[in-house]
Amino acid sequence: AIERTLSIIKPDAVGGNHIGAIYSRFEEAGLKIVGAKMLHLDDEKAGGFYAEHKERPFYNDLVSFMTSGPVVVSVLEGENAIAKHREIMGATNPAEAAEGTIRKDFASSIDENAVHGSDSAESAKREIAYFFNEDEVLDRTR
Ligand code: CMP
Repeated sequence: AIERTLSIIKPDAVGGNHIGAIYSRFEEAGLKIVGAKMLHLDDEKAGGFYAEHKERPFYNDLVSFMTSGPVVVSVLEGENAIAKHREIMGATNPAEAAEGTIRKDFASSIDENAVHGSDSAESAKREIAYFFNEDEVLDRTR
């Protein structure tokens, strides 16, 4: 089925000038960018996004990393988009990411791992709505 998923290009990858290379991976995989914005998150916005991890030991470091510089948040659309996006990102820990994946090629550690992608249909819906109004996600079928 045609799905939508949320992508975040994180501060390490934006700072490394990898936005274009990562967008190319999305497009080469058949994912269409149907919403996009660059933001510098504050503690409240980043903390709210990762609220499910609030009790994890890495939460404070995660929020301070995600607010350390600009990010690019995008809505990707395509056949099986949620799983496809996760496949091309590779494992959360770049040390375990497969050859040719975004994290293998652009991430340096589990903390600074270049990209985020929704992990289920429920998270995709919540995460897209967290960053985008309805009129900011465009119809690219016409
Ligand atoms: P992300 O997909 O953005 O979701 C939460 C982030 O927490 C994850 O990517 C990692 O960058 C970071 N993180 C740090 N340590 C861990 C860990 N042990 N398990 C999962 N995520 C972690």
